[in-house]
Amino acid sequence: MSQSGSERRQPPLPIVIVGHVDHGKSTLVGRLLHDTGSLPEGKVEELKAQSDRRGTTFEWSFVMDAFQVERDQGITLDTTRIWFKTAARDYVIIDAPGHKQFLKNMVTGAANADAAILVIDAAEGLSEQTRRHAYLLHLLGIAEVVVVINKMDLVSYDHGRFDAVAEDARHYLKRIGIVPSVILPVSAREGDNLSNRSRTMPWWTGPVLVEALDAVQARPAADDRPLRLPIQDVYREDEKRVFVGRIETGRLRVGDIIEFSPGGRRAGVASIEGWNTPTMLSAGAGQSVAFTLDDDVFAERGQVASHPEHLPREARQLQVRLFWLDRAPLKEGDRLDLRLATASHPVTVEAVRSVIDVESLERREAETVQVNEVAEILLRSPTPIWFDRAADSLATGRAVLARDYRLVGGCIVTGEQSVAATRANITPVAQSVTREEVAAANGHLGGVLWLTGLSGAGKSTLAMGLRRRLFERGRQVFVIDGDNLRHGLNSDLGFTPEDRAENIRRAAEVARLFADAGAVAIVALISPTRADRDHARRIVGDGFQEIFVRASLEACEGRDPKGLYAKARAGKIPESTGVSAPYEEPDTPALTVDTEAYGRDKAVDVLFEFVERRFALGRAAGRTVR
Ligand code: ADX
Repeated sequence: MSQSGSERRQPPLPIVIVGHVDHGKSTLVGRLLHDTGSLPEGKVEELKAQSDRRGTTFEWSFVMDAFQVERDQGITLDTTRIWFKTAARDYVIIDAPGHKQFLKNMVTGAANADAAILVIDAAEGLSEQTRRHAYLLHLLGIAEVVVVINKMDLVSYDHGRFDAVAEDARHYLKRIGIVPSVILPVSAREGDNLSNRSRTMPWWTGPVLVEALDAVQARPAADDRPLRLPIQDVYREDEKRVFVGRIETGRLRVGDIIEFSPGGRRAGVASIEGWNTPTMLSAGAGQSVAFTLDDDVFAERGQVASHPEHLPREARQLQVRLFWLDRAPLKEGDRLDLRLATASHPVTVEAVRSVIDVESLERREAETVQVNEVAEILLRSPTPIWFDRAADSLATGRAVLARDYRLVGGCIVTGEQSVAATRANITPVAQSVTREEVAAANGHLGGVLWLTGLSGAGKSTLAMGLRRRLFERGRQVFVIDGDNLRHGLNSDLGFTPEDRAENIRRAAEVARLFADAGAVAIVALISPTRADRDHARRIVGDGFQEIFVRASLEACEGRDPKGLYAKARAGKIPESTGVSAPYEEPDTPALTVDTEAYGRDKAVDVLFEFVERRFALGRAAGRTVR
């Protein structure tokens, strides 16, 4: 919608319209658009003529139906947004009633409303769905709510009936912590109290709907809150690393020290660029920025930049309040993807704590969560998750749950079991010899060669052969082998997904130390999941090279050097990779070595050449030594 002249108007206020499906949301929107003069010229006349031709009576909801038809035909480009304007400002209805994805959009935050209109039928009163939608407003932190008691024409504009329904609504909303700014009587069909004051309800002296909306305060900009800048992308420009993301809350200034979570690496902000601004000194909430640092630290999509004095929380176990959207119920042990800001974490449902009855607001114990139910659950992640509690910051305290790439729920984080309680008291010390000095002395860079593959694929054999070749060439090199680690450092770990994650985390931390010392650390670990290998990559940072040692399961089983597969097939080894536990092949390894196609010597040759190239002096080391 274009804005006329040079008058200063407020930015459009995003609102959402909720309530029971038959309580008149579409009629309300159709009539509101008309009464505020926001419909295209002649639209209503056209629809009325159409109704006449068909011998039907015109209904205001036809306006919405007509929009739907235009959307289906691709005439209206934006599929979910509808605009209207009042004298004071513009409004955008971010989810039109009847839109199928309505709940999903609300839950995912695709619909980020500042205010809501809750529509209730005067004759029917509050329904289960009314309460469910109201509860969702509460979950989503939409505090500005205008309640419309609609269809007053059906109850003869009775003041007493209005008072009774209004009281019911006020009572329920109060229990979920919502104080509506106004509860008002309207008849959307007759156009009473939307934009025009009703003559049939002289007893109503409060604001009409448009006045009530105009009085709503837009959500204040979140500039004065702690900085949260989730990293969307990282790319290299010349020798610089450029980080890209949208500031959710707070301000970022040139010269600020920022810390990436999880991980804890810090650096100073060297420059900031905006969308249309080549350079700026600072940027605030809602802005998308690209920034560079004064030190070449590694960070990646999914991490968040904050100020060290106001870090987000970190935990592996999160307690969330969830709105479940999938027909297949949720149960303990389910595996889901938790998407919070730009991060995606594989998580397991550790426990279903309770299901909340939206009618009575009582909690009851349950083992499963059915579609459209609200529940408290505990999620566990093998790796740390950064977040805020929703009560502290909704923008970084809410998340979406996916299963097999399908959206199945939305949630807010209400609590956690912290893993980082002590980190605040720990200050890393810088090394007295730089990485560059070590590399110059050794004649090559340090780094990590991460060999992943099935048991029996040849990881250990190749690792040892490669170490010999590199050693003879005078390289600093060491093999970190899964079986060996499991005799010492990791002797307390088994083969559950959680134990494997921890096994891999420790191996990555050790490999990183070797790399920092200037060596090429060759890691030979099954490391069966992408998530765990990605975590290892995050720990090591630059200089991490993922190598896929490939051999088919049949070949590995045929070799079976440790008799492992025979035992697994006999049912003697639970969670055996390739047999009863999954192996996820790397998507984009730096190198694939197929040990069925190559003999041992040829495979070692290929790896040797790779290392000589990748870890040659002159390539950007790009990492600070811890
Ligand atoms: S990882 O999955 O956590 O990366 P890792 O490489 O450390 O595994 O250890 C794998 C080795 O442990 C195998 O070579 C095999 O000898 C032994 N092993 C014992 N039980 C299992 C199992 N259930 N699955 C895979 N390997 C097993």
